Amino acid sequence: MKQFTGKVALVTGAASGMGQSIAIRLAGDGATVVAADIDTEGLEATVAKIREAGDQVTAHHYDAASESSCTQLVQQAIKLHGQLDIVANVAGIAGFYHLHETTTELFERYLAINLTSVLVICREAMPHLKESRGCIINFASINARMPVAYHAAYDASKAGVLALTKSMAQEFSEFGVRCNSICPGGFDTPMNKNLRWAEGMDFKLIAKLHNPKIPMAHPDRIAGVAAFLASEDASHVNGEQIIVDAGVSSII
Ligand SMILES: NC(=O)c1ccc[n+]([C@@H]2O[C@H](COP(=O)([O-])OP(=O)(O)OC[C@H]3O[C@@H](n4cnc5c(N)ncnc54)[C@H](O)[C@@H]3O)[C@@H](O)[C@H]2O)c1
Repeated sequence: MKQFTGKVALVTGAASGMGQSIAIRLAGDGATVVAADIDTEGLEATVAKIREAGDQVTAHHYDAASESSCTQLVQQAIKLHGQLDIVANVAGIAGFYHLHETTTELFERYLAINLTSVLVICREAMPHLKESRGCIINFASINARMPVAYHAAYDASKAGVLALTKSMAQEFSEFGVRCNSICPGGFDTPMNKNLRWAEGMDFKLIAKLHNPKIPMAHPDRIAGVAAFLASEDASHVNGEQIIVDAGVSSII
């Protein structure tokens, strides 16, 4: 029997990058994956890869910017599968902006997609996770611990993910629900390939985010970390922030 046989794992951001790698890994380890994203085409590709391997998945289109869409996502997962054991909030957006470009509207969009959606999905999933004594894995960033210039909206949203996750870890540990964060850095994903730069920005101010001697990592490098956090081996790991960045942020 595989380690997640009989378990249901909701993975957001499953159409691309690290979310796709995690969805494939959890399904390969026996979970029935609820793969969710706004990108329908990318989701189809993820679903095809999982099914080709003979593993179990259902595809769910949702928009992390919408509270009702996040709520419906959890409801659909329960309606289809009757339980939830693992929730991995991986979906997110990133970009660099001068402060004067960081309008309230832009800031609120970052908070909605990167932070509020995490709150809503965790809140709606929690009664089911209490039943299954399940776990939550939320994607923050090394930027949550090491903010940089031109990144106020992203970094504030990801710092919020760390605080939210730790708070939930303390509130729900007595119910056997574990809540941990992963702080990635330097992954070779569409997010990093298509980054929006602020015009005329001083790249020296963000140089600490990247060590030119360390190649960007394939998104598969994160999948085992997520699988560990979801596994029995991590049954005593709660409220933790796992940094996965090849040591780039260890300077702080
Ligand atoms: N790539 C890195 O080096 C890095 C570093 C630190 C943190 N992260 C975080 O890791 C997570 C995964 O990032 P990635 O690099 O794999 O990026 P990615 O762009 O490959 O994947 C992000 C996914 O989120 C989805 N998404 C975006 N907006 C959405 C919305 N409104 N509703 C639903 N889905 C939406 C996208 O369609 C995409 O599939 C993100 O939360 C990101 O902030 C990435």
